[in-house]
Amino acid sequence: MSSQNQSSVLHKFKDILFSTMSSEELLSSMDSFNAREDDVFLVSYPKSGTHWIAKVIENIPNAEITLTSPIELGDISKFEELKMCCKRRVIPTHLSYNMLPVDIKQKQCKVNYIVRNPKDTAVSLFHYYRENPNLPGIESWAAFLELFLRGDVVYGSWFDHILTWEDHKNDENILFIFYEEMKKDPSKSIKKITTFLGINVSEREINQIACKSSFREMKNDAAKENCDANKTICALTSNRSLVFRKGAVGDWINYFTSKQKIVFDELFAERMKHSELARHFED
Ligand code: A3P
Repeated sequence: MSSQNQSSVLHKFKDILFSTMSSEELLSSMDSFNAREDDVFLVSYPKSGTHWIAKVIENIPNAEITLTSPIELGDISKFEELKMCCKRRVIPTHLSYNMLPVDIKQKQCKVNYIVRNPKDTAVSLFHYYRENPNLPGIESWAAFLELFLRGDVVYGSWFDHILTWEDHKNDENILFIFYEEMKKDPSKSIKKITTFLGINVSEREINQIACKSSFREMKNDAAKENCDANKTICALTSNRSLVFRKGAVGDWINYFTSKQKIVFDELFAERMKHSELARHFED
């Protein structure tokens, strides 16, 4: 991919690549955002399962919430738009902890952080780049993996992102959800989310949420939808159906050569050497 191609659809802010749908003015005004104490932030590195958690939260009976578009998506009028929400706001974001508006930290708003095995995340982002006209063209998986390892992709390095958030994983207002655990036992993760949000749900309701947020249901629903990129959490696409590809754990094995795995694992070992989260991603 040429750097010209990359710069035509992405721009750098504080050394991190963003889609041109996130204006520089908005990104540089994050600290003027007024949080509400009952706001919920749905945080992730791209392709970690954001839509999945959003669907779970949207389906909690009597939750009385509004799911907004990502806080960093749009122009400077964004915060005015968010002010118009009357219900409890659930606001997605792919920002690292360091870039999060300061008022969210001061008010200790609830944050649901979803994290996924970085190899599967890389594969998912590769496909998303390939199919999304709003992202730079990609020549091959090998070329994309190099960009991913350098953090030269939207929202920067997976390692930097997760490490800024890991420092806060024991904060009372932050809940970590692991994609792989949720895949194994959706009801258990859904229960964690509802408890964290302080909403009582019955076992029956949890099972209903699990059904409505299953990969198959979500993929079918998306195929029927005609979504507007600015109004939904599809931060980088005008086509929601691009989001639901395989929804599997371990698909990376079909992409990484043994040499690529070694390179990846070496970088992982180096960057995650002090991380307690690293054990979640041991293959
Ligand atoms: P794949 O590309 O591996 O299929 P995000 O919502 O953060 O953009 O993440 C998208 C990834 O989450 C995609 O991964 C998508 O298929 C997967 N996903 C979305 N909904 C899911 C669900 N209900 N169950 C499992 N995976 C889901």
